[in-house]
Amino acid sequence: MKKPKIKIQNLTKYYGKSRGIENLSLEIMEGEIFGFLGPNGAGKTTTIRCMINILLPTSGNIWINGNKVTRKNPEIRENIGYIPGEFILPENYTVNEFLSYIQNMRKNPSKRRNELVERFTLPQKKKIGELSKGNKQKVGIVAALMHDPEILILDEPTSGLDPLLQQELYTLLLESKKEGKTIFFSSHNLSEVQRICDRVAIIKEGTLVKVEEIHTLNKNVSRKLEVQLKHPNEEQLRALGANLLEIQGDKVSILVPQSASIKPFLENLLLMEPEELSYPPASLEDYFMQFYKTQK
Ligand SMILES: Nc1ncnc2c1ncn2[C@@H]1O[C@H](COP(=O)(O)OP(=O)(O)OP(=O)(O)O)[C@@H](O)[C@H]1O
Ligand SMILES: [Mg+2]
Repeated sequence: MKKPKIKIQNLTKYYGKSRGIENLSLEIMEGEIFGFLGPNGAGKTTTIRCMINILLPTSGNIWINGNKVTRKNPEIRENIGYIPGEFILPENYTVNEFLSYIQNMRKNPSKRRNELVERFTLPQKKKIGELSKGNKQKVGIVAALMHDPEILILDEPTSGLDPLLQQELYTLLLESKKEGKTIFFSSHNLSEVQRICDRVAIIKEGTLVKVEEIHTLNKNVSRKLEVQLKHPNEEQLRALGANLLEIQGDKVSILVPQSASIKPFLENLLLMEPEELSYPPASLEDYFMQFYKTQK
C-alpha cells in the first residue's frame, strides 16, 4: 500500500477568536494532483501556510514525506515547491537577481531554472517592481519550481494568469504528475479542478464538506443551463424534465446533471424559441447549491 505523501490530522487554526480552519484531516497520496477547493475565506491559505510551516496550528498535526512539520525541521521545505496566493517580491531586484538569490538560499540546485524562464517567457533583466501582476506571478512560479521539488503546494496559482499561461501551468502540473510528483493545489474554480485533479477536497467556512475522486464529482455535478424565453411557462418546462429550475422574469436557469444526456431536452427546449441560451461550466456555487439540495 502506498503511504500518504502529505498527511493532515485534525488541523485547527484560530486567529484569536476568528476561525481559520477547523478539524481538517486529509491524506494526499504520492503522484496525485489533489485539488483543495473552497470559496473566499474558506480556509485554504490558512491550511497551506500551516503545511509549509509559516503558521503554527492551534492544534493538530501535519506530516510531509513522513516527517512531522515542526519549527525544528525547516529542511522539509527543501523538497517543496510553494507558490503563495499573494507575492511580496523585492521590487528593486531584476528577475535574474531575484532567481539567483532564491537559488543561493537553497541546498538543492536549480536545475530547471533556464527551462522554466524560457517556458514562462520571463523578462530576465527587468526590475520586479516594473512587472505587471501576471508577470510577477510568473516569477513566483519559476522561483518555486526551478529546484524541481518532489512536492508542489500551490495556493491558487492560476489567479492573475491569462488563459494561455494558465494552460502552460496546467501542462506543467500534468507533466510533473507523470514524473511522480505530488501536487496540492488550491482553487475556487471548479472547472479547473475538474480538468487537472485526481481527487478533490471541498471546504466551506473552515470545515471539510467532502473528499471525492474527480470522476465521481464529474458524474454528480450539475451544470446550469441559462435560457431567455419570451414567456417562460413553469409547467411546460417541468414537463420537459427540468426539475431544478429558477425563473426570474424572462430568464430561466435549469440545473442539468452532468451525467444526463442534454440532447433530447435541448431539442424540446429549442421548440420554445429561446432568445439566448448559454451552458457555462459548472461553478463552485452551483455545486454547493446542488450538494445542499441533495442533502435534505
Ligand atoms: N491573519 C489573520 N488574522 C485574522 N483572521 C484571519 C487571518 N488570515 C485569515 N483569517 C481568517 O481566516 C479565514 C480563512 O481565511 P483564508 O485566507 O485561509 O481563506 P481562503 O480560503 O484562502 O480564502 P481566499 O479564497 O479568499 O484566498 C477567514 O475568515 C479569514 O478572515
Ligand atoms: Mg487564500
